[in-house]
Amino acid sequence: MKIIGTGSALPALTVTNDDLAGFLDTNDQWITTRTGIQERHLLSTEDLYDLAVDASIKAIKAAGLRPDQIDFLLVSNVANRHVTPGLSCIVQKRIGLTCAGLDINVACAGFVNALMLADGMMKAGRAKNILVLCAEEPTKYCDWHERDCSVLFGDGAGAVVLTEGNAFKDVQLTMISDRDVLYYERGMETTPFEQHYIKGQPLVMKGKELFKTAVSESAKDIQTILKRANLTHEDITYFMLHQANKRIIEGIRKIVGGPEEKYPTVIEKYGNTSSASIPILLDEMLADNKIKAGDKIVMSAFGAGFVSAACLWEWEF
Ligand code: COA
Repeated sequence: MKIIGTGSALPALTVTNDDLAGFLDTNDQWITTRTGIQERHLLSTEDLYDLAVDASIKAIKAAGLRPDQIDFLLVSNVANRHVTPGLSCIVQKRIGLTCAGLDINVACAGFVNALMLADGMMKAGRAKNILVLCAEEPTKYCDWHERDCSVLFGDGAGAVVLTEGNAFKDVQLTMISDRDVLYYERGMETTPFEQHYIKGQPLVMKGKELFKTAVSESAKDIQTILKRANLTHEDITYFMLHQANKRIIEGIRKIVGGPEEKYPTVIEKYGNTSSASIPILLDEMLADNKIKAGDKIVMSAFGAGFVSAACLWEWEF
């Protein structure tokens, strides 16, 4: 398969580190040096569904297709205010789609996992044109009275249209069951029989542990992909990594190799937008004409689970 259209959408409201320092015990210097984040976009007047629809319509237009030519919708979303129906169902009609779809939750690694599913569907002949949409509002999982998680995230959506082609070369998925490093528990209704009722609680994160696992597992996935393709970092034009922390990206770069220019970032502007971060980065790089036919691109993401994933492209338009 290959990508023939991309789109992204960010909330209108920009929140700087100084804005956060106005009500949290934090400061621009701490956030910038520890994470690379300078500002992020937060949902205020719009909702996640608006972003999801906007990014999708842009991607379909960029692909030169009509919505009714999309054969399947794959959505990556960790959580939104609806537990059911799925986000794919909620936005399908507003995008103008007539096809079926489904949601996956593989945390911040959702985009690469969705690509794996799209590749399989295409190879099985079940769909020709697939829309992959990543729409996330991680700022809604955080406790905004605390500084540990809330400064890291931003909201956003990124979408790609995939069709038949030979650009997608390989994919590597990793899952290590370790719920405690990063989790967000939603409250559920209680029953007369429930003995373990949990009210729900905001995002809990073991930052240092997560940092180390992210660097080592993401680097491992990338090295596995490179080895299978008989390539080295020198053959790769870009490593497009999940935008969680600039120091995590730097840690992965130190293991995998290559100059900083090969590791593009948008984290400065958007913070961690979960699974939307790679498609948003890709959309901006294509808009800036930074990607040429034949470029070899590695994507790699990691997140709650712990999960990680990497894939390899040889770009075709
Ligand atoms: N502003 C100011 N100080 C803060 C702060 C904030 N927002 N958050 C934490 N601190 C303080 C801590 O309380 C601690 O203070 P102390 O030394 O007095 O105890 C100090 O800063 C250092 O904290 P530490 O946890 O050692 O920082 P760190 O270098 O590990 O960086 C993270 C913290 C969260 C930025 C880093 O661990 C990280 O990025 N982890 C991965 C997170 C992630 O990517 N999550 C999503 C994955 S998809």
